[in-house]
Amino acid sequence: MDAIDGNSAKSATLTIGNESWELPILNGTVGPDVIDIGKLYAQTGKFTYDPGFTSTASCESQITYIDGDEGILLYRGYPIEQLAESGDFLETCYLLLYGELPTAAQKADFDYRVTRHTMVHEQMSRFFHGFRRDAHPMSVMVASVGALSAFYHDSTDISDPQQRMIASIRMIAKMPTLAAMAYKYSIGQPFVYPKNDLDYASNFLRMCFSVPCEEYKANPILSRAIDRIFILHADHEQNASTSTVRLAGSSGANPFACIAAGIACLWGPAHGGANEAALKMLGEIGSVERIPEYIKRAKDKNDPFRLMGFGHRVYKNYDPRAKIMQKTCHEVLGELGIKDDPLLDIAVELERIALQDEYFVERKLYPNIDFYSGITLRALGFPTSMFTVLFALARTVGWIGQWKEMIEDPGQRIGRPRQLYTGATHRDYVPIARRK
Ligand code: SDX
Repeated sequence: MDAIDGNSAKSATLTIGNESWELPILNGTVGPDVIDIGKLYAQTGKFTYDPGFTSTASCESQITYIDGDEGILLYRGYPIEQLAESGDFLETCYLLLYGELPTAAQKADFDYRVTRHTMVHEQMSRFFHGFRRDAHPMSVMVASVGALSAFYHDSTDISDPQQRMIASIRMIAKMPTLAAMAYKYSIGQPFVYPKNDLDYASNFLRMCFSVPCEEYKANPILSRAIDRIFILHADHEQNASTSTVRLAGSSGANPFACIAAGIACLWGPAHGGANEAALKMLGEIGSVERIPEYIKRAKDKNDPFRLMGFGHRVYKNYDPRAKIMQKTCHEVLGELGIKDDPLLDIAVELERIALQDEYFVERKLYPNIDFYSGITLRALGFPTSMFTVLFALARTVGWIGQWKEMIEDPGQRIGRPRQLYTGATHRDYVPIARRK
């Protein structure tokens, strides 16, 4: 993709010693401009240095925009609040993949196509039986999604737009089935096949919670809640796991392998694993009275403890998703008749105290999407080990959409960062007999 048109490119002057170079400044439609350093090394013999990429734009994208200071999240320009309120997850998937909201006919066709790809190859079920029953479901997801590339040779030629779209539809369609299989396997219950007459969210809940011994009736309030949770998690710009998918895809790896790499990265507690860690943290705190002790620990530089579900690399304001998640949490607890959830009481009080504490205020640390999601998912009946699996299920559309955008970018090249080397300089080999 070329630099965004419509703005005259300005430039930045870099001066080192008595030499200067002009570096082009590229403008986005909204958000920070970027300084194009693509030729910096060739011109100056120097690299830039930005571990953690706090000031680095890795790509140009038109999918998701975040304003961290204002707490704004847009999918293809539409505010997350409006999409979560008025649309459904498959509509959001269409929007992220195609760039526009679908017409009624387009939505019906997209739902039909996704629904008819929800089954997985029957031999995949044997693949699961190689795992211990107590394997973490995320390990099963990394393996089983990567294994999909062994089954779908007709959609791994990434140079074919048709195959790229089939692979995208297959990933979106099969993630709920694989996630439900990982859950069923972990509790020793038989796998449940998808049903084509159910909507995406109800199909998933039925595959997780129905048993052969009785009919399963989806609760529309709970289906709507999980569908909205999927919308909130669908995409989030160039976060760690999306950047992993892009980097894996830049080598030409097939989409299933790239998504497996994204799942592996999401698993970390600093990223998607935070929803599981946040619920465990609330359980460890155990009572409102113990909150000050944990706030103190979170502020102590010598204590590795951090408030899980708090803070964000980009949001220096309230994560807009966390607000919607908190509302959904109350809806689900209300529908299930859970009058008072001690963990919710601790979460609400912990948020109240932290948001008044100067340490958190100064560092602009607010609850993020993972702070309330765990309480909600537990109320829906999921064990904590499944929380990040649900995050991966929903984020698959973001990963595959960003992967497609990268593959379709004519300027795309293999990602290959450099380094600041501080290791040993040249030295000759010493035979072992002469080593001291
Ligand atoms: C997700 O990138 C995305 O978009 C991710 C995500 C998505 O949708 O893809 O939004 C999903 O991953 C949300 C984040 C989930 N992670 C957690 O909730 C784990 C707890 N949060 C932290 O680990 C941390 O806030 C990060 C990892 C989220 C962000 O880390 P940064 O940007 O590297 O920030 P930092 O570690 O440099 O922190 C800045 C300061 C530090 O203090 P000082 O050194 O300045 O004194 O804030 C402190 C940190 O110690 N800090 C915290 C804290 N988070 C940051 N202190 C206590 N508790 C915390 N949670």
